[in-house]
Amino acid sequence: MSPRICLLRGDGVGEELLPHVRAVLSAASPTLDFVEAELGFGAFERHGTALPDTTLAAARDADACLLVAVGSPSEPTPGYASPIVALRRELDLFANLRPVRSLPSTCPAADSQRPEVDLLIVRENTEGLYAGRERREGDVAVAERVISGFASRRITRVAGELAAARRGRVCVVHKANVLRATCGLFREVALGVLAEQPELEVEEMLVDHAAYRLAAEPERFDVIVTTNLFGDVLSDLAAHAGGGLGLACSSNLGEAHALFEPVHGSAPDIAGRDIANPVASLRAGAALLAHQGLSDAAQRLTDALDDCLARGPWTADLGGDASTGAVTDAVLRRLAASGSSADAAHNLTSRPSASAPVLQHPPTEREA
Ligand code: NAI
Ligand code: MG
Repeated sequence: MSPRICLLRGDGVGEELLPHVRAVLSAASPTLDFVEAELGFGAFERHGTALPDTTLAAARDADACLLVAVGSPSEPTPGYASPIVALRRELDLFANLRPVRSLPSTCPAADSQRPEVDLLIVRENTEGLYAGRERREGDVAVAERVISGFASRRITRVAGELAAARRGRVCVVHKANVLRATCGLFREVALGVLAEQPELEVEEMLVDHAAYRLAAEPERFDVIVTTNLFGDVLSDLAAHAGGGLGLACSSNLGEAHALFEPVHGSAPDIAGRDIANPVASLRAGAALLAHQGLSDAAQRLTDALDDCLARGPWTADLGGDASTGAVTDAVLRRLAASGSSADAAHNLTSRPSASAPVLQHPPTEREA
């Protein structure tokens, strides 16, 4: 059976880039079966909810989802809640993986960048300050920060496993000197879990200092594991070291579902002008293909994207003047030149079965 991919149509560049992603994924792997569903502020204005039930059902039914971005209202809007935070919670997409790599030296934007960056932020994706426990009490607003040992354990296990397959270094980022209960628990659990892998080199860092070090010497990091809000903020900062938000992608993974997206938002300042960089979304597409076991298609797409970054065309954020369409066309040409996918022949055997866990790690006590 063909993998069923749910493409989530959002707002701004989140709507504009989706056809580009679909065209490139179709070219990389003709076996994919697409369904489209909407979410975001536009959906809220049309249907009164940013995450319609039909969208949630389509996302649940799919083998994997891809979302470019949604926009949110700038003023408090009664009834509006972030559909992405809700989707991550509904599908229990607890691990948000955000890789950052240096640009190839031939890309015009590489001149102002540090070489040899290759890091991965592993962000807890279901709780922390994004747990949805926020309220207004007259002149005071309160947000509750929820940190559980369960969620801290399972995200750290993912970070440890990924670090073991990379350069073997993990940095636990927290603010336990001030947030003694919440970050204190995260720190205690994370360091305890990582102690079970003595082959890893483990360090801890306060989040403010981690931000400084990410800006000053991003190449010193391998894997960073941290809580939800800190991971959100640090990953935009880290994206700068990889050429900016037009390139940064992320995987949201759980035991049963997976959603791939760029790190950036709906970019209202450039939306609708055919100038957004499609590479972040296309990298998310490559991660989706790899996750579906379509490793040949994933590699061909990754190679095509790397070649475009090295030799152009480049959009304005990378110092070029190419349109979104010109970059997508260049990726499609490179894909065509690299031949047809070898995945189709062994697709059924190489792809994880629908019931196989998306993330494989030792069961936690709640799962047991
Ligand atoms: P943003 O990520 O949309 O844009 C920040 C800056 O990066 C802008 O200057 C934008 O032009 C640039 N940029 C973003 N994507 C780009 C691309 N593909 N190519 C070239 N440049 C790009 O963040 P911002 O402006 O803070 O938020 C805009 C809206 O997006 C807000 O409503 C926010 O809530 C939403 N948002 C949604 C996210 C999501 O869907 N996952 C994530 C972050 C923000
Ligand atoms: Mg963000």
